[in-house]
Amino acid sequence: MTNSLIMPRRNFIKNVAVAGAALSALPLFNVRAQNAGRKFKVGLVGCGGRGNGALENMIEGAKTLGYEIEVYTVADHFPDRANAAAKKYNIPSDRVFIGPKGYQQLVTQPIEIVLLATPPAFRPVHLEAGLNAGKHMFIEKPVAVDPPGARKVMELGDLAKQKGLSVVSGNQRRHQGSYLRNQYAIANGAIGKIVGGTVSWCGGALWYKERESGQSDADYMIRNWVSFSEMSGDHIVEQHVHNLDVANWFIGRPPQSALGFGGRARRKTGNQFDFFSLDLNYGEDCHIHSMCRQVNGTDGGVSEFFHGTEGTAFGGGKIQSDKLAQLKIPEFKTHDNPYVEEHIALLQSIVKGEPLNSARSIAESTLTAIMGRIACYTGHLVRWSDLTTNEKSPWYNLKMAPSAADFESGNVVAPKDGVCAIPGEA
Ligand SMILES: NC(=O)c1ccc[n+]([C@@H]2O[C@H](COP(=O)([O-])OP(=O)(O)OC[C@H]3O[C@@H](n4cnc5c(N)ncnc54)[C@H](O)[C@@H]3O)[C@@H](O)[C@H]2O)c1
Repeated sequence: MTNSLIMPRRNFIKNVAVAGAALSALPLFNVRAQNAGRKFKVGLVGCGGRGNGALENMIEGAKTLGYEIEVYTVADHFPDRANAAAKKYNIPSDRVFIGPKGYQQLVTQPIEIVLLATPPAFRPVHLEAGLNAGKHMFIEKPVAVDPPGARKVMELGDLAKQKGLSVVSGNQRRHQGSYLRNQYAIANGAIGKIVGGTVSWCGGALWYKERESGQSDADYMIRNWVSFSEMSGDHIVEQHVHNLDVANWFIGRPPQSALGFGGRARRKTGNQFDFFSLDLNYGEDCHIHSMCRQVNGTDGGVSEFFHGTEGTAFGGGKIQSDKLAQLKIPEFKTHDNPYVEEHIALLQSIVKGEPLNSARSIAESTLTAIMGRIACYTGHLVRWSDLTTNEKSPWYNLKMAPSAADFESGNVVAPKDGVCAIPGEA
């Protein structure tokens, strides 16, 4: 996906005399002049923390470009969530959709963009509905919890291309100036060929919800979705996907195989692991160590680090390279907040009629994390081909259940709390 090579918009608009930036900023300036005041009607599916945050980021991004966002419709499984968002944006009740099929009504509304911020288990089904209804899509990461789901999102990326629709995903590092700069430098040989590295997301426990008395299995799983692998993909998928995405992006391809281990030590609900450690084999003698942990009282760190044949680089940080000075690296001046920048990119792509499409790259990064999870749950070596081409593999058709379809049909049986995969047996 391309990204803006331009000045922060507000600064540019205030200060057109910055000669060095003027050329690269010209296309935006034209877009702004032609489309100032343009209003986008949007709808949000999943009115939780990130959904509300994404709306604010989109509104901020639009303001930066001189556009306006009307939050026209919202949908959520729960009325409390949907109604709170509706109240905030003055949305009349006939445009507020509740329950597991609410998204179906939302996508038929007269809106241009749909934002998806539900748990990842629902992403493939909701993305398909949005694209079939002809909407541009903002999709939070990760985009699936199992191999068929990730492959579906890859296919849907092709559908979006055919329809001329944008799909922008919420892996904000790809919209962050420091990462864009380093990716550019590495792609242009700054550290030679990447042969190794470490990517990690290690920190404390996330929130969780105990089951309430009388609560249905479906409601419990949705309120406590970050504890269930079927809903989140486990934290290697839900959280660590950000770092794995950087590895795939910088190396230029997904890994060929994964082997690793993990376990559960302190969780009280759900069936996820607490930690994962993986060897990702990218082929051509390149191995990346991936690790993630959610345990309070342990040392943490969120980073990406790469060894090249001619230098080293952190994801969005320091590059050690003798070649750096010779490379002409353009200035990647993005909005200070990459969560806003991703919406700027989406809105600009629509106005310019030049669709962006990150469906495949985020589906590949999601599938990389799923490959790691399967390797750690089972204790076996899992190949990329097992998940993408080898239909005889036991994992090719591995579908998590309950699935999005089960939530829609009301057939949800929650897995037992505290029962997790046992490597060697799973
Ligand atoms: N890019 C980032 O850095 C970032 C940060 C946080 C979360 N996220 C992602 O955003 C997504 C949402 O996370 P969150 O933290 O907002 O969770 P959340 O629990 O705060 O919100 C999820 C919302 O979706 C609703 N929901 C669940 N299933 C639904 C369905 N089938 N139809 C309609 N609504 C449904 C829930 O009721 C809830 O209101 C996740 O995929 C998460 O990984 C991304």
